[in-house]
Amino acid sequence: MIRSPLMTVMVDAVMRAAKGLRRDFGEVENLQVSRKGPGDFVSTADHKAEAMLHDALLKARPDFGFVMEEGGVVEGKESAHRWHIDPLDGTTNFLHGMPHFSVSVGLERDGQIVAGVVYDPIKDELFIAEKGKGAFLNNRRLRVSARTDLMECMVSTGVGTGTKRDLPGYMKEFLHVTARTAGVRCLGSAALDLAYVAAGRVDGFWEAGLSSWDVAAGIILVREAGGFISDASGGDYSLGGSSLLAASAGVHAQLVKTLKESRTV
Ligand code: IPD
Ligand code: CA
Ligand code: CA
Repeated sequence: MIRSPLMTVMVDAVMRAAKGLRRDFGEVENLQVSRKGPGDFVSTADHKAEAMLHDALLKARPDFGFVMEEGGVVEGKESAHRWHIDPLDGTTNFLHGMPHFSVSVGLERDGQIVAGVVYDPIKDELFIAEKGKGAFLNNRRLRVSARTDLMECMVSTGVGTGTKRDLPGYMKEFLHVTARTAGVRCLGSAALDLAYVAAGRVDGFWEAGLSSWDVAAGIILVREAGGFISDASGGDYSLGGSSLLAASAGVHAQLVKTLKESRTV
């Protein structure tokens, strides 16, 4: 698979940041046993990774803007392009020495996500997608799952601050989806959840209150793998919207129905 110049820029930047995170994760595992814990250390690792991504992308595309989890919005010289960056998605996992986290970079052009990279530094899994060019995991073409029977499906979800704003409502959703599927998983990195939908490892994913940097890259991965992105009611999803549902074509409508039903009880 030949990578476009844009994808090469994105992958190089992500790999550089991931190298530091992988090293720091080794250190976190040692810090687990200390009384103070690894909190400050992780926050420094997070900021270092973001600075690295920012510098590498700015050097390669000096006019593009940025939306970064830590550094906020930085307007570019041109308004068409913006990077959405999450240097460490799965901070709580990282902090606890749990080897499931990612680096996520998505590119928005004129309001649409056109390219995305999600990288898991521990499993060395690189998920990439560009609009119209397909989605790939370590050079293997990705397709969402082909399942159509919801009872056979595994669905992932997330409990972040957005979900916690209405925990009773979320618990109803959780109950309904659990009752109608083979299982629900809460893995702790929304970017990887979306990448896993693209890879057919899970059949769907839903969460409330995600930010653009959590999902920009994952959205294009899912779409390029043949999946659907919407809000939890099946309406259009806009970046940073209040809820997100990603699923294979075969079960998207069934998941919308299930989530809707949970709100009527
Ligand atoms: C979080 C993760 C988590 C999701 C939260 C996010 P962070 O991002 O993606 O899976 O449930 O809503 O905020 O804080 O680890 O970058
Ligand atoms: Ca995140
Ligand atoms: Ca983060």
